[in-house]
Amino acid sequence: MLGHQLVKAFGDVNIESYATIRSPVSAMTGNAESKITYFSGVEAFDFGSLSRAILLSRADVVINCIGVRASKSNSETELFAINADLPRRISEICKETNAKFIHISTDGVFSGDHGPYRDHDLPDAPDPYGQSKANGEITAPHVLNLRLSFIGPERGQATGLFAWALGQRKNTISGYVNVFTTALTSPVIARWLVRLVQKNLFVPGTKHLAGPPISKFELLQKLNTAFDLGIEIEPAIEPRSDRRLICSEFQDESLSKLPSWDEMIEELRMNYDA
Ligand SMILES: NC(=O)c1ccc[n+]([C@@H]2O[C@H](COP(=O)([O-])OP(=O)(O)OC[C@H]3O[C@@H](n4cnc5c(N)ncnc54)[C@H](OP(=O)(O)O)[C@@H]3O)[C@@H](O)[C@H]2O)c1
Repeated sequence: MLGHQLVKAFGDVNIESYATIRSPVSAMTGNAESKITYFSGVEAFDFGSLSRAILLSRADVVINCIGVRASKSNSETELFAINADLPRRISEICKETNAKFIHISTDGVFSGDHGPYRDHDLPDAPDPYGQSKANGEITAPHVLNLRLSFIGPERGQATGLFAWALGQRKNTISGYVNVFTTALTSPVIARWLVRLVQKNLFVPGTKHLAGPPISKFELLQKLNTAFDLGIEIEPAIEPRSDRRLICSEFQDESLSKLPSWDEMIEELRMNYDA
């Protein structure tokens, strides 16, 4: 979901950019103007294919969007191999090549029992996904772990909230009034990362990139209205979870100024069919 938006955002600007994909490059068509160069057939379990791509690109900045989410088909071994071991190995290569490394982490490193969370709060996820992601956060002068959450359009089999909501047209669903998030949309995060790279604003450490707080109920209401879905959303008091992140301070207005939910949803509405 995020990698695809980064390809779009970096393809729109004048930065020499490379992307790795598992599939043949023909599967990524869509922007004929894109200035992205692809390394296809790159499989994280064949680490040589990934390290070769990083070395050949001579990248100044490497952004890792490879990750696996918790699902029935992902074993705990795969979660830790991809979400924890892989970023450590990429970090080692980046250190050798003097590249900055931006690793995409998640609000899921937190349980949601004690939100909102600051960037120095200790991860306390009880589940293997959150624990594997927390394990993939690296402390090193060349590494930025960016904790965030997002919704947005997906390629292939969609599993996220945005696609799920669009699929609920005219249905009656529950909206969680006590589940809170500071997610952003994936296109907004992708452009934020472009600005960070373009303006050379890399900072090491573990930072929170957080949007305006919203409940899942309110978010569904906004999508319902914007896409005219005609969904009946019944407010549900349970479950309760507060994974809001308190946004880290970024010393540049282009990074600290983030759009409202109405602006983000309007952008989705303008660009994606329900
Ligand atoms: N989605 C969210 O709400 C969310 C929230 C916070 C943080 N994050 C983090 O953001 C990152 C991106 O998540 P996403 O939602 O964009 O996930 P996604 O849509 O599932 O994308 C994950 C990407 O990783 C690639 N990948 C997985 N295993 C691989 C392997 N063995 N070799 C090569 N590539 C592999 C997938 O390639 P294929 O396309 O070939 O499968 C896909 O491009 C992850 O680190 C995730 O933890 C996600």
